[in-house]
Amino acid sequence: MEDLVTLKASILQKISEANNLKALEDLRVQTLGKQGSITVLMKNLGSLEGEARKEQGQKLNDVRASVGEALDKQLAYLEAEALSHQLISEKIDITLPGRSLPQGTIHALSEAMFEAISIFKDMGFWIAEGPEIEDDEHNFTALNIPETHPARQEQDTFYLPKDEKGTIQLLRTHTSPVQIRTMREKKPPLRIIAPGRVYRSDFDQTHTPTFHQIEGFYVDEGVHMGHLKGCLTEFCRRFFGKPKLPVRFRPSFFPFTEPSAEVDIGCRRGKDGLEIGEGSDWLEILGCGMVHPKVLKNCGIDPQKYQGFAFGMGIERIAMLKFGIPDLRSFYEPDLRWLSYYGFDAAKALREGRGL
Ligand code: DAH
Repeated sequence: MEDLVTLKASILQKISEANNLKALEDLRVQTLGKQGSITVLMKNLGSLEGEARKEQGQKLNDVRASVGEALDKQLAYLEAEALSHQLISEKIDITLPGRSLPQGTIHALSEAMFEAISIFKDMGFWIAEGPEIEDDEHNFTALNIPETHPARQEQDTFYLPKDEKGTIQLLRTHTSPVQIRTMREKKPPLRIIAPGRVYRSDFDQTHTPTFHQIEGFYVDEGVHMGHLKGCLTEFCRRFFGKPKLPVRFRPSFFPFTEPSAEVDIGCRRGKDGLEIGEGSDWLEILGCGMVHPKVLKNCGIDPQKYQGFAFGMGIERIAMLKFGIPDLRSFYEPDLRWLSYYGFDAAKALREGRGL
């Protein structure tokens, strides 16, 4: 009897000291398992007689129940402890910022192109397109560019083999042939812009063999130089974001316009580079003029009835000026540092509904 009290106390003591699930399970096997100390004592009850057997049986039942209860309690305690350990060690800090993926950007050229197009669209211009592989007729002849014009010389123009009809093929050197194609296809009034890629055999800090232009023209009855000046002054001021930007129209020459002008914007060339809209210097940014009567006639439009203005500008050039990019060639180099430095927010572009 004394033995059972001691046994119970010692087992309960061991259970309370078991500090892991394995040790607890071992204790369970050692006491209540098939060969466990309590099980063996129960089996031995058979050797006792009468009252002694009954008494010992009750005591053993009591010991077994207490041990079973203690094992369950300790098991619940150890499991709860293991869980809280796990919760602490695997804690997720939801306040940590997420790991960001490398993000692409909108190229400065696309940005400038989009901004220019949206200004002209606001003014009621529609977009037209033409082929990049042109013929001599659309790129030069119909635009009143005589045989002797330097633009026709091999060093500027990329010529391609003649087509099956013997027509001279070339990569268009400007977007002006879209004027011819549109005027031959549609009747005035026409208010069109033609953004696109053009090609010239040239390569230095301000020239690349491929570059982009936006052509624009407006043909209707009674169109005059005042419309041209108003439209382009407004464009320059909005594009460069300077409502008071000085804009100057300087007489010039293009075979397809008469009179012709070049447009300059006010700037200062200081130690720290170029500042647009300040100072007393001028910077040329585009060519324009009144569509030459011969060009209208070449397209079957009566110059007595209709007049038009036209303009053409290099997009890389206006992008370089607006964003302060010093070298044109960098537009076409796949340098990720350049692309992210001069790039624009793609998410913003998507929100504004462009790009896709
Ligand atoms: N096509 C000319 C060029 O590439 C630019 C130009 C000048 C276009 C005057 C025009 C214009 O429509 O009227 O240099």
